[in-house]
Amino acid sequence: MRDALERFRWNDITPEEVYLSRRRMLGGLGAAAGGALIGACGPRSRPSSDAADGAQGPTADGGPPPVRTLAGPLSPAVEATPEADPNRPASDERGDGVTSYDAITNYNNFYEFTTNKEAVARLATGFTTSPWEVKVGGLVNKPMTFDLDGLQRFGLEERIYRLRCVEGWSIVVPWDGFPLRKLLSAVEPTSDAKFVRFESVLRPAEMQGQGGVGFTWPYTEGLRLDEAMNDLALLVTGVYGRTLPPQNGAPVRLVVPWKYGFKSIKSIVRIDLVAEKPTTLWNTAAPDEYGFFANVNPAVDHPRWSQQTERRIEGGLARRRTLAFNGYDGQVASLYAGMDLKAYY
Ligand code: MTE
Repeated sequence: MRDALERFRWNDITPEEVYLSRRRMLGGLGAAAGGALIGACGPRSRPSSDAADGAQGPTADGGPPPVRTLAGPLSPAVEATPEADPNRPASDERGDGVTSYDAITNYNNFYEFTTNKEAVARLATGFTTSPWEVKVGGLVNKPMTFDLDGLQRFGLEERIYRLRCVEGWSIVVPWDGFPLRKLLSAVEPTSDAKFVRFESVLRPAEMQGQGGVGFTWPYTEGLRLDEAMNDLALLVTGVYGRTLPPQNGAPVRLVVPWKYGFKSIKSIVRIDLVAEKPTTLWNTAAPDEYGFFANVNPAVDHPRWSQQTERRIEGGLARRRTLAFNGYDGQVASLYAGMDLKAYY
């Protein structure tokens, strides 16, 4: 199976152009740019209704509805409430209602600040997000360093994605960003590049959680190169048409909607193309609990809780059936053809 990890080379990859999730093109970065150890996502900060007690019956989720592609102008002015933009759909392509701005920005996992989801927003207030640089290098022909203005060349679009945390809660989010593959193509990976390694900022003076023990900071994550080139993988600079707030990973984060939320690394400062599977924070901390692939998979339980159901954070305690690849199987299942997804979770 080692072959499955390494068989993809840059030249094999065809960018995914199929638009199967709810999206619309935006003008530019503009408004949107501008147990100590094993908790992930762990039980200490998890509400009692999540994860370990998540074995209640599922609600019926039908098959994916037909896909709609969206286009429309952004409201010229910032709305009084983020939800007020009449051009923004109220649901994703499955008909799942978007989660409110208030909920998305006040219930966060960002361990650099705290493991208390409700306290992240307060502790992240004032976090310095400008100036900011993202260095992109490693096995590439054209290493580049981008400041926030530099990222504007990749354009901006809104995509409504479901995010499913490994803990068993989920949200539906209108992100503003651009496909990661655009940035990777710009730096020209060499034929030796097989994985992408991401690194979050290391700034213990501003992030009190980095002063504690139990994790190897900075937060790191990784994708296989063909996963990173999939059109769904998004670099995000905004939410609800507004600049991404610090608690959600400002100024730029990754969102990989078919994988558990811990793969969607926040506040990125480095992206490197590498030959070997990179080490990652959660996989290093607890390899049996947080696999490198971490594809949403209701058939593979977390060692300490079922992954068959999840709770939308605004939906009370009701649980719904978790979908394979978080419902994006049509776009990503082919990436894993022939792989034993129980062994490579
Ligand atoms: N990125 C960093 N740098 N630090 C983190 O603690 N938490 C991850 C992910 N990215 C995390 C991170 C987890 S477990 C989840 S579920 C999502 O961020 C949560 O994103 P949100 O707070 O925007 O909903």
